[in-house]
Amino acid sequence: MNGKRFKWFPAVLSAAVSLGLFVSCAQTKTATMATAEKGDKIYTEEELGLRHETLYTEDNITPVHGETTTKEPGESTKFERSFENSPPLIAHDITGMLPLERDNICMGCHMPEEAVFSGATPIPSSHLINLTTGEYLRGKLDGSRFNCLQCHVVQTALTPAVENIFKGEFRDKQGRYRSNLLNLLNEGVNAE
Ligand code: HEC
Ligand code: HEC
Repeated sequence: MNGKRFKWFPAVLSAAVSLGLFVSCAQTKTATMATAEKGDKIYTEEELGLRHETLYTEDNITPVHGETTTKEPGESTKFERSFENSPPLIAHDITGMLPLERDNICMGCHMPEEAVFSGATPIPSSHLINLTTGEYLRGKLDGSRFNCLQCHVVQTALTPAVENIFKGEFRDKQGRYRSNLLNLLNEGVNAE
């Protein structure tokens, strides 16, 4: 058995070496001006990076903002959540709703007692509790939550510079459209 393995070893080794040589020859070497050798493919500074423009001036750079929905609340279509218990994307136009104060226009439709009438997704229980102390705020919004746009954003249609291949995980179907963070917050925590 040992002898057999020994016999094969040089052949396998030489095959690996020649494969390695073949691969390294087949690769196109890339370099910048400073490190270039004969035959190397040279990339200019403009070709490096994502914006394909000179790095020394902003003159030709226009920020891409993309299009956001113009549908009013009540007329828009909600988006599937990005992953379980992610903050949902704002489905509707928010023009004229800013700036957000402690008592803001979003709460006027999204606080649980208002959502019954507006048809909006009610603000979840995780926003109505002080998450540091665990104190329930008797139906009031926690002070750390009034700036909704800190976590919730309006979906924008634009072509990303880098493709996003992230795929969210959901343990149950409902998680694609509703959150239940407060129920799961202590999951796996041993209270003893
Ligand atoms: C006039 C009532 C109204 C106001 C004001 C309003 N919303 Fe909404 N919102 C809705 C309704 C209704 C929906 C459900 C989608 C629809 O029918 O357009 C919704 C959907 C959403 C969603 C998606 C919820 C989900 O389950 O996917 C988020 C997030 C949201 N709104 C956040 C906000 C924020 C933040 C503000 C303030 C900047 C705001 N909304 C202001 C009524 C409102
Ligand atoms: C600090 C970040 C943060 C802020 C600020 C915040 N949210 Fe959220 N929101 C979340 C996250 C994370 C979730 C999903 C997990 C959960 O339920 O807490 C969520 C969930 C929601 C949902 C979905 C509830 C459901 O049952 O599916 C609504 C509606 C919502 N937020 C509205 C708001 C509104 C309106 C404001 C402002 C008044 C706001 N949020 C402020 C992070 C935030």
